[in-house]
Amino acid sequence: MTDSRLAVVVMAAGQGTRMRSRRAKVLHPIAGVPLIGHVLATAAQLGPAHVLAVVRHEREAVVAAIAELAPDARVVEQDEVPGTGRAVELAVQALPEGFEGEVVVVSGDVPLLDSATLASLVAAHREASAGATALSAVLEDASGYGRVIRDAEGGFHRIVEQKDASEAELAVTEINSGTYVFSAAALRAHLPAVTTENAQGEKYLTDVVGLVREAGGAVVAVPVAQPWLVAGVNDRVQLAEAASRLNAMIVRGWQLAGVTVHDPATTWIDLTVSLAEDVEILPNTRLSGATSVERDAVIGPDTNLVDTEVGEGARLSRTDATLAVVGAGATVGPFAYLRPGTELGADGKIGTFVETKNARIGRGSKVPHLSYIGDTTVGEASNIGAGTITANYDGVAKHRTSVGSRVRTGSHNVFVAPVTIGDGAYSGAGTVVRKDVPAGALAISVAPQRNQEGWVERNRGA
Ligand code: UD1
Ligand code: CA
Repeated sequence: MTDSRLAVVVMAAGQGTRMRSRRAKVLHPIAGVPLIGHVLATAAQLGPAHVLAVVRHEREAVVAAIAELAPDARVVEQDEVPGTGRAVELAVQALPEGFEGEVVVVSGDVPLLDSATLASLVAAHREASAGATALSAVLEDASGYGRVIRDAEGGFHRIVEQKDASEAELAVTEINSGTYVFSAAALRAHLPAVTTENAQGEKYLTDVVGLVREAGGAVVAVPVAQPWLVAGVNDRVQLAEAASRLNAMIVRGWQLAGVTVHDPATTWIDLTVSLAEDVEILPNTRLSGATSVERDAVIGPDTNLVDTEVGEGARLSRTDATLAVVGAGATVGPFAYLRPGTELGADGKIGTFVETKNARIGRGSKVPHLSYIGDTTVGEASNIGAGTITANYDGVAKHRTSVGSRVRTGSHNVFVAPVTIGDGAYSGAGTVVRKDVPAGALAISVAPQRNQEGWVERNRGA
């Protein structure tokens, strides 16, 4: 699998000024994965012997992310000399001395490029025994990009940056995508000779193309099949465009895998999510993180699941859940808020306007209406009355409520934790349960109702 003659350099040292963000550009996520994570994953799919990531701006955060996303990647620090040429020069110096072969260069802010495109670029490069091969794209609006300059026969000459280009060169619509394959030897031979004498005062990697050609080497520019594959993210508009394009591919992939998605435009699925066949997703639904959904479950509309496990045949409507587990056949919502540590058993119910947190609600148990259940364990086949609140916080510490199996609590109860309600117990409407309720008992805490006959006529009569 590993190609011992292949190295990939991921350039990620740039500032990302146009994002106007305190966060490094390459750490902004799409589909739940930082931009650089997509690039590192694509790099890994090529099976290179070496992956190097060049960093400088927001160094610590970027290095931490790389360590998590691609522990095998080597981090290279760029120095104060600016430019893509310097980035790659330092990366090549970090390669083992005896490395001979090809160096693929990609940008940490071009997240949609796939490994098949890169593999065919490597193949074209090797086929032509080229010194440098650039992936180009023909764009309607080429402004901002380096232009691919060809001769009358269509041969690739060099790349000129927008800021250094003449009027005639600016009219060229074939652009340099910023993705390349170089022979390691060509980089070693020519990068030291690249200067910063240009409009931006940077060492341009693109100058290597011209230098290879002047030295008699072959250079190739291969147009990419679809320009969006090489779309870079420089600002938040492009971030949203890339996110939307990737999401459309993810949704389509799940549809082809047997998931019914009613409205792809309002369904957002992270790359990290897993779905079974015959899952159904209704509009305005976002599935994030390590969320997984089993067969026949129906999710949505208006549902947001983060790191949540949904069992077979469960139904969640208008639900917001994080780090929750919903059992097979259970129903949740509409309008439910499942906070971390919620575990709803099979065939259970968390109903309308219910908030749960750190709550294990057993098989077949129900919290149907208007409740807050926190730091609580409920056994099996119990029913918590409408409007029940667990008073789990005494102002200093959180306490647990324990409800047994086959319990029926009345409407509008308060469980003042710590408190235990035994198996099969009942409570009356409006009970404030401050003391443990033994199994099989009925708890009542409200004063008996008194009716004063004729009160209205006596007190409010004309
Ligand atoms: C670069 C190309 C340009 C191409 C464009 C495609 C050069 C000189 N120009 O221009 O021909 O059309 O990409 O998007 O290469 N980076 C570093 N160290 C640096 C500077 C940049 O690692 O000192 C990284 C950035 O983080 C980014 C990538 O290199 O990932 C590209 O840098 P950027 O400044 O965006 O290059 P462009 O000016 O857009
Ligand atoms: Ca760029």
